[in-house]
Amino acid sequence: MGGHEAVAISSRRVLVTGVAGFIGSHLAEALLDAGNEVVGVDAFVGFHGAEHKHRHLESLRPRRGFTFHELDLRHAPLEPALDGVDVVVHEAALAGLPTSWADVDSYVTCNITGTARLLEAARHAGVAKFVHASTSSVYGRDAVGDELQQTRPVSPYGVSKLAAEKLVMAYVELHDLPATVLRYFSIYGPRQRPDMAYQIFIEALADGRPITVFGDGHQSRSNTYVSDCVAATVAAIDGAQVGEVYNVGGGVTLELREAIELIARAIGVTPKVVHGPSRRGDQRVTSADFSKARDTFGYEPAVAPPEGLAAQVDWALAARMQDAA
Ligand SMILES: NC(=O)c1ccc[n+]([C@@H]2O[C@H](COP(=O)([O-])OP(=O)(O)OC[C@H]3O[C@@H](n4cnc5c(N)ncnc54)[C@H](O)[C@@H]3O)[C@@H](O)[C@H]2O)c1
Repeated sequence: MGGHEAVAISSRRVLVTGVAGFIGSHLAEALLDAGNEVVGVDAFVGFHGAEHKHRHLESLRPRRGFTFHELDLRHAPLEPALDGVDVVVHEAALAGLPTSWADVDSYVTCNITGTARLLEAARHAGVAKFVHASTSSVYGRDAVGDELQQTRPVSPYGVSKLAAEKLVMAYVELHDLPATVLRYFSIYGPRQRPDMAYQIFIEALADGRPITVFGDGHQSRSNTYVSDCVAATVAAIDGAQVGEVYNVGGGVTLELREAIELIARAIGVTPKVVHGPSRRGDQRVTSADFSKARDTFGYEPAVAPPEGLAAQVDWALAARMQDAA
């Protein structure tokens, strides 16, 4: 599944932070598949179960070329993890908009302090490239268009991620750190975080529970399948320009109610939907113009939502059966 083979880059040692997470674990697999060494870092923090993150690491731990450091970017010495590292891909963060109102301090420290400490360590290690995972949430309630849109985040999450981007750019400016920022748009697929909408919908429909949609269901997303996100990130290591920001989005924008229909069809049920009030900080419309990534490093999304959501459903149902066994 997934339209991309990871681009074969010459064998290098790549530090992936947040490696036990949704995107980080897929990225580490792709980098290993392409013949790289991967040094993974994670602290198993966040609002959703650490057991998911441990499970994501299961297939990585035995692989040749993979080493893991359990450490918190906010406090731990980072030099050992950076030893001999050529490339850093910084995926670690506390993610999720609505939960960020509940624990602003953790979002600020993980996403800003953690990034600042990693940048400083990467500078001293003299890495050849630093790729920073950011988000469409830096744009705000609507994220429609290219990278020149105004950044007006409406959640502590979005604000913390924008501050992290600014720190990255300060290191480019002041220390010539060869860094690039990628703004991901709504990533989905197997291992999606349990707090994310599609995963919540799959679990509810599989249990026969109604789905709660916050708002009218007409909110839309530039859904990006995880293998497309990973392919863009791998391509950006060599292809993205230093000091530049790139949108990474899917080619199809889907309304929430359309996504629910696709998920229900893949499970084989009729969805029951109840509506709740819109939540603080939720985005309304996201639609990525990713032509800069396409023109610079050849990014082209390959997986469309019907196929991608069916793959996520297959994975989620298999995981439920494993849990029940
Ligand atoms: N999933 C999406 O739709 C999406 C969209 C836009 C941007 N992003 C960004 O992509 C990145 C990965 O997101 P994800 O969905 O895979 O999230 P995730 O929660 O699955 O993974 C993030 C990982 O970072 C780790 N982490 C957090 N703080 C840490 C710290 N202080 N020290 C060490 N490890 C720490 C967590 O334990 C977690 O395993 C994040 O930077 C996020 O902001 C994700």
